[in-house]
Amino acid sequence: KRTVVLISGRGSNMTALIEAASDPDYPAEIVGVISDKADAHGLRVAAARGIPTQTIARSDHASKADHDKAIDAALAGFKADIVALAGYMRLLTTSFVEKWSGRMINIHPALLPAFKGLDTHKRALEAGIKVHGCTVHFVTPEMDDGPIIAQAAVPVLVGDDEATLAARVLKAEHPLYVLALKLLAENKVTMAGGKVCFATGN
Ligand code: GRF
Repeated sequence: KRTVVLISGRGSNMTALIEAASDPDYPAEIVGVISDKADAHGLRVAAARGIPTQTIARSDHASKADHDKAIDAALAGFKADIVALAGYMRLLTTSFVEKWSGRMINIHPALLPAFKGLDTHKRALEAGIKVHGCTVHFVTPEMDDGPIIAQAAVPVLVGDDEATLAARVLKAEHPLYVLALKLLAENKVTMAGGKVCFATGN
C-alpha cells in the first residue's frame, strides 16, 4: 500500500516507518513525506533516504480548507492509499478527515482516551499515574478521538521528568507504529461504523 507520512518536526516515527518499509516483505511503501513546516528536521531525513518530500505551508493558503485541499491534491499526486500522521501538529478539516476515513492513522503519546492533546508527559507526571504509553488510532474529525488500533504501555519511574518519560514512550512508539501500519496495509484492521474491526482467521 502506498503510504504518505505527514509531519511537522523531528520525524522519528516517520523514520521508523521508512526503515520498516525498506524491507520488501513489509506491506506498506513510504512513497512521500509532506510537512507543513519547511524547516522540519524529518524532511531532511526523508530526502537523505531518497523519499520524495513536499512542504505545504499553512501560510501559503488563504484558509484551513484550502490548505487541506492542497495536501489532498499532493496525496493524489503520490497516489496514496494510506496517510500516516506522525507528529503532524495541525488539526485537519472534517471534510479532509472524512475523505480519508479508514485510511488515515495517527500516533499519540499517551494511552488514549487519557491525555488527549498536548503536553501529555507533563500531565501524566502531574497526575501521578504509574503506567503511561502511546496509541495508534484511526483519525476521526475530533482530535485524538478515533478508534484505537494498538497501544503500548511503559512504566512511569520514580525520578522521571518530562524528558526521560518522553524518551521511554518514544522508544515504544516506533515499533507500535510499524505494527499498526502493517495491520492496516494488510487489511487486518479496518474501521466500520466508527469502530475498529480486526480480521480473524489465518
Ligand atoms: C510523537 O511523540 C508523536 O506521538 C506525537 O508527536 C511526536 C512526534 O515525534 N504525535 P516525531 O516527529 O515522530 O519524532
